[in-house]
Formats: sequence, C-alpha cells, structure tokens
Amino acid sequence: MELALLPAEQAMLAGDLGPGVRKAMEIIVALGRIYGARRLVPVGSVQVAGVSYRNLGDAGLEFLQEWADQSARARVPTTLNPAGMDLCAWRELGFSESFARCQLAVIDAFRRLGVRTTCTCTPYLVGNVPCVGEHVAWAESSAVSYANSVLGARTNREGGPSALAAAITGRTAAYGLHLDENRRATLRVSVRCPVGTLSDFGALGYLVGRKARNGVPYFVGLEDACSDAALRALGAAMAASGAVALYHVAGVTPGADEPDVLPPDPETFVVDDLQPAYAALNSDVRKIDLAWFGCPHASLEEIAAVVRLLGGRRVRAALWITTAREVRAQAEAEGLVAAVETSGGRVVADMCAVVAPMQELGFRTLATPSAKGATYLPSHAGLQVRYGTVEQCVEAAVSGVWLD
Ligand code: F3S
Repeated sequence: MELALLPAEQAMLAGDLGPGVRKAMEIIVALGRIYGARRLVPVGSVQVAGVSYRNLGDAGLEFLQEWADQSARARVPTTLNPAGMDLCAWRELGFSESFARCQLAVIDAFRRLGVRTTCTCTPYLVGNVPCVGEHVAWAESSAVSYANSVLGARTNREGGPSALAAAITGRTAAYGLHLDENRRATLRVSVRCPVGTLSDFGALGYLVGRKARNGVPYFVGLEDACSDAALRALGAAMAASGAVALYHVAGVTPGADEPDVLPPDPETFVVDDLQPAYAALNSDVRKIDLAWFGCPHASLEEIAAVVRLLGGRRVRAALWITTAREVRAQAEAEGLVAAVETSGGRVVADMCAVVAPMQELGFRTLATPSAKGATYLPSHAGLQVRYGTVEQCVEAAVSGVWLD
C-alpha cells in the first residue's frame, strides 16, 4: 500500500511552507517509502545526533547552515547529542581555537534551526521524558534504547538529517519500532551469573548485543538487580555492540508486560560468565592518562558516587565526568563540582570523549566504566582503554595506573 499523506503533510511536501520544510518532508517521505510505511505519525520530541564538528566537517556545517538559511525551524521540542567539546570551558580544557570556532558555528546553525542547544545523550535527565507509547524521533543510540525500553516510547534510531527533518516537519514515518509487531522479543536471554556493578551490566550488554544484532532481547534473571543507571549501562552497551534499539526486562521494563511480547519457544541465549566481555573490552595498558565517567552522560547520583569514592584525594591522571549542562548546574549547586575540582578532576558539560579530538588534547590511554565508551574509543578516538568498575577507574585516576 502507498504511503498516505494528510493534507497538511502534502502541503509541506509541495513547498507551501518554504524550501526548508519541503526538503525535510522529502527526507521523511523518502524514508517512509524505502521502509514501506503507510502513514506518518506526529512526534512529541526530537533528539539530533551528528553535532561534533570532528564528525561533521565543513560539508556537514554548510549543510546545516544552508537549511537554516531556508528558514526551516523545529516545530517540536528538539535537543542535541553531545558536541566535540565543552561549549563554555573548552579553552581551559585545552581545545584549539580553530576547533572551537567551527564547533560553535555548528551549534549556532542548530540554534537558528530552532533547536534547544542542550548537548546531551541523556535528554530524559533534563526534562525530555516521553510518555509510554509516545512517538518520538531520537538519534543517539543509547538514548533510543532508553526511550524505547525503559520509558516505553517509540522511536527508530534516526540519522542526523532524518532527525532534523522530523524536528522541522513534526512527523516521522510509521515503520520499524513505531509498530507493535516490531517490538516483540527476538531472543530470550537467561542471566545465570551475578550482575552487580554498572560495568557488569555493561559487560552483559556487550555480550548480548553481539548475539542479538539488531534484534530485541528479553531478559530473565535480572528482576531484582536493575537500577536506572544499570539499565542505561545495559542499553548503551547493547546499542554499541549490536545496534540493539529495544530490549525488555521481565518484571522491570514497561514493554515486558505487553501481550505476546515473548513469542512461544524463542531462541534462548544463556549468559553465565561476564569475563569474555571484560577481556574483549580491555587492553593491557598500565599508565592511565584520563579516567572518564559519564557515558551515557552522568546523573547527579553518578557524580556524587565518584565524589564519594575520591574522598578528597588528589588525582594523578586527568579525571573527567561528562554530563548535561543542566545536570552540571545542579551538581555545582550541591557542591559536587567543587569537590571534583578540589581533587583535580573536572565535571565537563556538552561533550563526549568518543567524538572529541582526544589525541590533540594529549590523551593516549583512558579508563572507563562504560562498555559503550570502551567499545568505541579505540576505533573512534585512537585511545587504548581499560574497562572496569567505577571504583577501579577512580583508583586509576588517583594512582595514574591501572591496578588489577
Ligand atoms: Fe553519550 Fe558519547 Fe557515551 S554520546 S553514550 S557519552 S559514547
């Protein structure tokens, strides 16, 4: 059946609202036709990825500026994924003037497009919390996983242009995870080993993502173990290792209770040992240049946990906690930023180490409790990585070496 457009959508496609809106609707319609959608659905919010100038380059910047020049504007609440630097403290952190100038030009283009220039992969921690069943168009893989799985909203993993097109039209095509039939589990995961720390959840996610590959895992055996931070670590790791955009946890996530979510006699994947994930995500590097926390961007509780573990000790390696600017402001009000800085660390807003020019900043080795970070940093940022618990990473920052 053909993709059916409402009169208002046809008007956008015809250019009645200007060339920028027409271009956006052309993208939405093209995707709808490619994926066999029959209709478009309104979206409640959008989260745009492709924000770091390091990834966009001049071609990406010019694309955004041209769209902004065509008077296209977001018509639903829209935020950004992390950029390649802290938009305020970039100079103190050592970013170059030339990189900063280009990164700020990207942010300015988004601002002209009507986008709220909050740069975070956890928009749900700064007020963008979709309802169960709400259609949204989010782009960042860990945020997509959280929105679908933990919040029960509905989104495909959008690319940068398609997310921006959804923001400008307020629509996305109804295919993929917007439809009930694609939200059913494809793999039952039986967890039969202890999963306690955040890095354990990341390790579990790494293994399951590699097995599920674009599928929808259904976890049993985690009912009593899942904090919100644990679910974020689990989902982010699966998104990185296997492009998993939706998962269910029996007795925990809203989708797990939906009728028929688990088909009869599904394939079952048993996880009884997390060590293969720790082995795969670790190099043997000993000296640590930077301990990085906040991937996905840290909550206030996660910042407080690092402060507790530091206990006022000075760090020898650099220590960064990345977070949303709004969360950083809360942390500042509660004295957490000052505590981190007293130890010699930084609470860094707006950015992500995976999309930042880390080598230009002088970093070669990094410790992190994030499986997603450990998956991407070697290939995307050229760093050697140590992966372990939050406690191990804090100790690595304090001593400057990885202690097994
Ligand atoms: Fe967020 Fe970057 Fe990690 S976008 S999930 S901090 S890799």
